[in-house]
Amino acid sequence: MTFTQSPVDQTEQDAPAIEHLLDLAFGLNRIAKTSYQLRLGNTPVPGLSLVMRDRQLGLMGAISFWPVAIGAEMTPALLLGPLAVHPERQNMGIGRALITEGLARARPKGHELVLLVGDPPYYARFDFRQVPEGQITLPGPLDPKRLMFMELADGALAKASGMMLPPWRWNEINAPRATT
Ligand SMILES: CC(C)(COP(=O)(O)OP(=O)(O)OC[C@H]1O[C@@H](n2cnc3c(N)ncnc32)[C@H](O)[C@@H]1OP(=O)(O)O)[C@@H](O)C(=O)NCCC(=O)NCCS
Repeated sequence: MTFTQSPVDQTEQDAPAIEHLLDLAFGLNRIAKTSYQLRLGNTPVPGLSLVMRDRQLGLMGAISFWPVAIGAEMTPALLLGPLAVHPERQNMGIGRALITEGLARARPKGHELVLLVGDPPYYARFDFRQVPEGQITLPGPLDPKRLMFMELADGALAKASGMMLPPWRWNEINAPRATT
């Protein structure tokens, strides 16, 4: 079975089903992952949080993209994820549809760089490539082979160097401090 329907915008009513789906896909310890640090105090980019539903199962898949900033220069990028597809609907093109639609929506909004932490063999299908080791770091343990990028504008990766954090965290770090 393959799906011809298009992803649609997430709504507030999807939230509990999405949390359940993420537990199913990634396990209950998922919040210990380093990529979750990048979502703390952060808000998904509007218009890029998508779901696919069917009558029988309800939620079949979900994706979101988060704003991140890299290095003290705060080079902006999108962090793709989490992406999850219900175990009963995997390998039917739902992940592909969610990624393709998310990237198609991101391009005209002027986003230049997309990053993710995920399985390289899957994301290579979409032309994501490994970030050169050490160029971008995360605030926690990371297998560097799993940190991948896609440029939506030529040369975007070259501008991104340093630690990836939520923008609010870099704003806090860069804020001038009163000296005593
Ligand atoms: C990974 C995931 C998002 C893919 O979505 P999906 O809708 O099942 O996959 P698609 O239909 O888009 O693509 C299916 C193809 O990708 C391959 N594929 C699926 N997951 C893969 C993975 N983790 N690594 C490599 N290839 C993978 C399938 O073998 C299939 O290959 P084929 O087209 O040659 O038959 C989904 O399976 C999922 O949520 N899995 C649980 C979470 C997980 O394992 N995440 C790891 C990636 S971060």
